[in-house]
Amino acid sequence: MIKNITADIRYIGVDDPEMRLFESQYHTPDGMCYNSYVILDEKVAIMDTSDRRTLDAWKANLAEALAGRQPDYLIVQHLEPDHASGIADLCALYPQMQLVCSAKALQMMPQYLTVPEGSPSGAAPVLTVKEGDTLPLGRHTLKFIMAPMVHWPEVMVTYDATDKVLFSADGFGKFGVYDADADDWACEARRYYFNICGKYGTPVSTLLKKAAALDIQKILPLHGPVLEGEKLAEALRLYTIWSAYDVETEGVFIAHASIHGNTAAAAERLVEILKAKGCPKVAISDLCRDDLGEAIEDAFRYGKMICMASSYDAGVFPPMYDFLHHLEIKAFQRRHVGLVENGSWAPSAAKTMRPMLEGMKQVEIVEPVVTLRGCMKDADIPALEALAEAIMKD
Ligand SMILES: Cc1cc2nc3c(=O)[nH]c(=O)nc-3n(C[C@H](O)[C@H](O)[C@H](O)COP(=O)(O)O)c2cc1C
Ligand SMILES: [Fe+2]
Ligand SMILES: [Fe+2]
Repeated sequence: MIKNITADIRYIGVDDPEMRLFESQYHTPDGMCYNSYVILDEKVAIMDTSDRRTLDAWKANLAEALAGRQPDYLIVQHLEPDHASGIADLCALYPQMQLVCSAKALQMMPQYLTVPEGSPSGAAPVLTVKEGDTLPLGRHTLKFIMAPMVHWPEVMVTYDATDKVLFSADGFGKFGVYDADADDWACEARRYYFNICGKYGTPVSTLLKKAAALDIQKILPLHGPVLEGEKLAEALRLYTIWSAYDVETEGVFIAHASIHGNTAAAAERLVEILKAKGCPKVAISDLCRDDLGEAIEDAFRYGKMICMASSYDAGVFPPMYDFLHHLEIKAFQRRHVGLVENGSWAPSAAKTMRPMLEGMKQVEIVEPVVTLRGCMKDADIPALEALAEAIMKD
């Protein structure tokens, strides 16, 4: 469905409600959307394309928005296939149209499509732009801001000072179709951010600093709703926290991986102990059953974390290993972490978890590390209490 974003800017993105596993990894119970926009000025510019799954619907939206006009430019902010799958078709349909992208995007483009070599008018088929370059369209002049590693190296974002909008590429995106979670942007935007951009806090901070110098009334991302007003202010506030790896919510997040349920029972008990001691918020995730992406999000969101796992073949039960591996590659950092292991003959979970966590930047293990043997017993409670107290005052 086409929407008017401003007098000259049309939304031509497409919902993909059937998408259940975005990037073959992230559960998307509310589907996904791939946003794209058209600026109708003296010159016509299209901002990115679509995913292969939604290409036909996107082309129909584009044709409706163009209403017979010819596009002059296709701005390629991000070359990932969920936004770039329509480039080749569009170049074939409009051979006089120029592609506008970063030098890095042009370098990467042959991996995905045959780069057009010439246009009938003799104009260069691809215009490469760098930081601060501008492109006049008539009433609007686009300004390009390089945003490498937000989320790929070729990414750039685009500012239009006339309508005061920032086309933010994957930045400020979220899971879900366009209208999903209309009143709660943060929940799925946070899960999207930490799982997809989490490793790139520094580049995101750099982009935020550049954005702070601009008068932005609306953010137009490639996924999720257009942000304006209070929602825009809140999104900027959260992105500042997230990109700095700061604590968003004071409290403790417990992640557990339990083979036979005894470690899980101890985790539930630890929730009660923490609450009884006045912990402001306790969140818990069963790494064997709950969404891994949500656990990763919560690890970054809360100030403290406790990892509880069964021992397994002289190491740690694989769902915990997998979780910690994800935290390693997502650059988890600056947190204090408690450990609880369970073992029936030679407990080994903590000795595997500890070096994984200690290898992360400014991650410290809170003592005591608690060892359980099979079922949790009353005799284990003082050790859990001691860990709860230590992590709360740490
Ligand atoms: C395949 C498998 C491997 C295991 N390897 C170890 C081990 O190396 N060391 C150990 O002490 N316990 C080992 N255990 C026992 C578990 O650690 C035991 O399930 C746990 O201590 C009890 O807590 P839970 O009910 O939360 O799983 C293993 C269990 C299974 C099923
Ligand atoms: Fe991306
Ligand atoms: Fe994307």
